[in-house]
Amino acid sequence: MARKDTIRQLSEHFRQHDILNVVVLTDENVERLYPDYFTELSENVRMDKITVPAGEDSKSIETAVRIWDYLADKQYDRSVFLLNFGGGMITDLGGFVAATYKRGIRFANFPTTLLAMIDASVGGKTGINLHYLKNGVGAFYFPEIQLPADVSLLDTLPETEMLSGFGELVKYALIGSKELFLSLSQFETFPEIKQEHIDFCIDFKQNVVKTDPKDENIRHILNFGHTIGHAIESRSAETGSPVAHGVAVAQGLYYESLLSTRVGLLPQEEWQQIADFLPKHFQIPKFTPEILEKLLPYLRNDKKNHNGTLNLAILDHIGHALPDFQIAESDIFDLVL
Ligand SMILES: NC(=O)c1ccc[n+]([C@@H]2O[C@H](COP(=O)([O-])OP(=O)(O)OC[C@H]3O[C@@H](n4cnc5c(N)ncnc54)[C@H](O)[C@@H]3O)[C@@H](O)[C@H]2O)c1
Repeated sequence: MARKDTIRQLSEHFRQHDILNVVVLTDENVERLYPDYFTELSENVRMDKITVPAGEDSKSIETAVRIWDYLADKQYDRSVFLLNFGGGMITDLGGFVAATYKRGIRFANFPTTLLAMIDASVGGKTGINLHYLKNGVGAFYFPEIQLPADVSLLDTLPETEMLSGFGELVKYALIGSKELFLSLSQFETFPEIKQEHIDFCIDFKQNVVKTDPKDENIRHILNFGHTIGHAIESRSAETGSPVAHGVAVAQGLYYESLLSTRVGLLPQEEWQQIADFLPKHFQIPKFTPEILEKLLPYLRNDKKNHNGTLNLAILDHIGHALPDFQIAESDIFDLVL
């Protein structure tokens, strides 16, 4: 969707809902690249802007306090509208501020990274990190309007950030659309990200979230690849050689797909298609018993596990996943290649 369509849609929304004051929340990188993205909106509403430093460190209680203070100092009441313009850090932080300022104000996300377009900006999970506890404090709180993404914003996104989002895009293909998986697999190099890829992920996530808004059952399929992915990410960070989030997710997708075959659900030929595809774009480590032994404590950390079992989403076909599949901890050692 082009910028002018977004402006038109937002203007119409503000007019219909009597919104007069809009505060844009963004980070320094996005502000530097797109300082005037929403300027035309000021023809009809009073626009204000808060810019926070870029990076995960800003997803903190200190930044939330700064934003609450700013809104309060400017005497914004509950009718103010917050427009989160940035990646997942901004949409999580801004959503949390919106959920809590004066017990909740209206907001929308306008995502600028691939990860935020297809995942973070959708689904109502908002939050900040508590010291080292990722997303330690937060709330389910939904945007008033879901805006279509502007794929041209990705032209300026650094390659590592594109790769991070691409890991999530592959996840959506694996759990939701064999057609998307097959279309992505045609490429030997990084595929061009199209509006229809993004729209598919948004629709798919919205439908899942509608059925299970509080993440109690079916929504767990969205965690496919993330149980092992998070274990890899956490361990690599602690050992001082961090693996980027999207790469860890892709590695998790690879091994959770293998697991799906080893437990007798995903047909062998479909596993082979995944095994041929992922290493073209991501480095996949070879799991040894020693590596798995070291990952096990991180896998155990997941709150859904108990008494020597691990609980994770699993594939029964490319394009379809099941939530909450229980495996014995020892089954993880079947992942030795
Ligand atoms: N709420 C959810 O459902 C959900 C889901 C997945 C991830 N998340 C959260 O999302 C966050 C990660 O999001 P992210 O990967 O978007 O990171 P991010 O928001 O930190 O953005 C990554 C970097 O890209 C820059 N950037 C943003 N848009 C740009 C553009 N168009 N051009 C150039 N640079 C740009 C940012 O300034 C930043 O430096 C994490 O905090 C994670 O917990 C939330």
